Formats: sequence, C-alpha cells, structure tokens
Amino acid sequence: MTKGTTRRGLLKAGMAGAAGLAAGRVHAQAAPDPAIMEPQPWRTFLGDGVDARPYGMPSEFEAHVVRRNVPWLTADAVSSVNFTPLHELDGIITPNGLCFERHHGGIAEVDPAEHRIMINGLVDTPLVFTMADLMRFPRENRVHFLECAANSGMEWRGAQLNGCQYTHGMIHNVLYTGVPLRLLLEEAGVQGNAAWVLPEGADAAAMTRSIPLEKAMDDCLVAFRMNGEALRPEQGYPVRLVVPGWEGNMWVKWLRRIEVGDQPWYHREETSKYTDLLEDGRAREFTWVMDAKSVITNPSPQAPITHGHGPTVITGVAWSGRGTIPRVDVTIDGGMNWHQARMSGPSLDKSMHRFYYEFDWDGSPLLLQSRAHDSTGYVQPTKEALRAIRGENSIYHNNGIQTWAVDSDGNAENVEVG
Ligand code: MTE
Ligand code: CO
Repeated sequence: MTKGTTRRGLLKAGMAGAAGLAAGRVHAQAAPDPAIMEPQPWRTFLGDGVDARPYGMPSEFEAHVVRRNVPWLTADAVSSVNFTPLHELDGIITPNGLCFERHHGGIAEVDPAEHRIMINGLVDTPLVFTMADLMRFPRENRVHFLECAANSGMEWRGAQLNGCQYTHGMIHNVLYTGVPLRLLLEEAGVQGNAAWVLPEGADAAAMTRSIPLEKAMDDCLVAFRMNGEALRPEQGYPVRLVVPGWEGNMWVKWLRRIEVGDQPWYHREETSKYTDLLEDGRAREFTWVMDAKSVITNPSPQAPITHGHGPTVITGVAWSGRGTIPRVDVTIDGGMNWHQARMSGPSLDKSMHRFYYEFDWDGSPLLLQSRAHDSTGYVQPTKEALRAIRGENSIYHNNGIQTWAVDSDGNAENVEVG
C-alpha cells in the first residue's frame, strides 16, 4: 500500500494538468504523463501467487465501496438497515457483499444441517424438509430486484438524504436459484379452502407476513443461492423466500415455516407496519407490488462530475414490480426537455434495468431527473403527483421522480423542483 503512495500523488498531479489541456473533449494528453513514462511499482516485483486469496475480495483501492447506514435513523443496529452503494455499481447485478441489509432482530447464524422448513395448516400432509430434501426438487434461476417498501421513505416530506445510496439504496438485484414454492405446497397438498400462506423466519424477530396463495403458487421461490453461491447470512442463509415484484418485507429470510390458511393473519408487519396512512386517517393495506421507479446513480451527491466540461455519461437504474422497463426518459433541465435514455443489458421481468444518457456538458448547472415507463404502460409519477393522492403521512411506496441539482463545479445535491 505505502509503496505506491508517492506514485499516486504524481498520478493525480498529472491528471489535474491534463484536465486543463483536454477541456472539452476526451482525448490523449499532450504532456508527458508519468503514468506512461515511468515504470509503475506493481511491475517491478512479482505479485501474489494463486491461492494467496482463496476467496477473492475487491482491490484495496475499492475499499470505499461498502454498504453504509444512517446512524440517526434507528435506535440500534439490530433492528436497522444499511444501504446498497448504487453510485458505485454498474450493470444490473448487485454483488453479494454489497446487498443492503434489513434485519428486525439481527442476523440469524443458522447451521444448515440443523435447519428445517415446515409446511403446516390447511394441507393434506404437514411436511418437514431438510436442506438436503430441498435440493431434490427441480430448481429455477431468476433475476429479481428486492426493494424494501420503505426505500425513499425518508423523502416523503421533502429532500433529505444526500446520496442515492441513502435515498434509493434499499434495493438489490440478484440471480436467485431456488425451488418454486408451488412444488413444496403441492407436495403437502393444499386443501380446497386454502387462500393464504404465512412464511415465518427462524430469526429472533420471527418475521411473518400473509401472502395470497395465488402469488405463492405463481412465481415465489424458496431460494438457497444468490448470484451462484450460497445465500449470505445477512440475506437469509441457508434459505429465503423470493416474492418477485413485491415489497421486500415479504421476502422472509432464514425461512423455517409456511403455514397455509384461509384468511390473512393480520400480523404486526401488515397492520402497524407496511400500511400507508392517508391524510383522512384511513390507511391502505396489502400494498404489495412495488411500482415502477428509477434513479440516476451517476452523477449524484456521492458521485460528482470531476472531469470538467465535455462528454459526460449519465447513468442509472430502473425497475418495476409489474414487469419490465422498456423505456426511461432523462432530463437535464428539471423536466423542460426529456430525452429517451439508452437501455443496456438484460431486460428481465421484475428485475433492475440499466440506462445511459450521454451528452456534452457545457458547465452550466443541471437539474437531473429520470422517469421510468414499465411494460404495463405505467409512468413513474412526480413527487408532487404522488403526494396529491397519498398525502404526506406515508413512509412506504415512495416511487416519485428524484431530482439532483448539479452546480457548475460538478457537485450534486438532493433537491425538489416543481
Ligand atoms: N426476514 C426475516 N426473517 N427477518 C427480517 O428482519 N426483513 C425483511 C425481509 N425479510 C426480515 C426478513 C425486510 S423489511 C426486508 S426489506 C428484506 O428482508 C431485506 O432483505 P435483505 O436483508 O436481503 O436486503
Ligand atoms: Co423492508
């Protein structure tokens, strides 16, 4: 680490000089660049051999790319949340170590050999599965986003947190491998009057949520792998429920039991929490689907423009719990002119999508926004439009359009327009 310090100092100085020369375009530098003219320390000695890092970790230069929390948000870390660093990522897959965490009773450290999944209630034969039993059912692989219903919840009453990691980072997008819940339910034999299921977690919080049987039989997965490897303990090792497109709270981690019933259970998490209080005192309940949403991840408050004027890449992510995202619009002037962004990467059902908009920045202040269209034709609303219907008492399901104000130095800030 120390070996390169002086060299990196030089490197920075070289780049600062070059920015002046290259103003306006991206091209090779005219001045001699020590990064080219001098041997770099890493080519003067042999590096680590294979097996020095049996489980590969990111470069030390990426040490700042981590999940972060907002300490004042919760009383302690056991029932709390941290946030995915969206501004440090590209493409659509969230690396396992960067998936935000939301625990209500801390991380359960489950021994898979001692773990069981039980199906009981309105079934012909109550069953208990070991992890080995689960592996004998046919598997599916699917990429889905998980968004906490409280994502952007701190922004209901106005712009508050300075960075997309905090305003939008309660989301991750992962390739899951798992067994369709339908197959396990069919194995137990669902009775005729059954209409709901209740997944329960093995953690100290014993997370429970009522889910309609129709959804359980449709596309829910009992998943044991994320991005190819075993689930991380933080994400529910050894097994979690995947409830595509629906609010993250229902994706029970450390899944230990599925009860089948004829009515919802009205547990704490679907009554006092995860309901949306309206202005007139009524509350919306069972608001499961995550509506279409998008955010510009770069530039953003934690990722300012540092390269000066000229060619500039705007990028971000969009998703919908109702399908795919065929189109995202981007504006750089607070909504006066909208431009269709370029989608790049797989367009998968109930998955994150990546968009880009490239333009020539003349250095004038910008008001950046993105607006997602989903495959049902739904268009992401402004925060103003959302508040007109939902009022300001809500915490959950804030999918309003986000604005970043970029000043002439390239620094970005969380603002609202309109
Ligand atoms: N499952 C259990 N057993 N315990 C929990 O605290 N939190 C829920 C859900 N499943 C929770 C749980 C909430 S509110 C969310 S948003 C997601 O898990 C978060 O999943 P993650 O930690 O993989 O991001
Ligand atoms: Co949540």
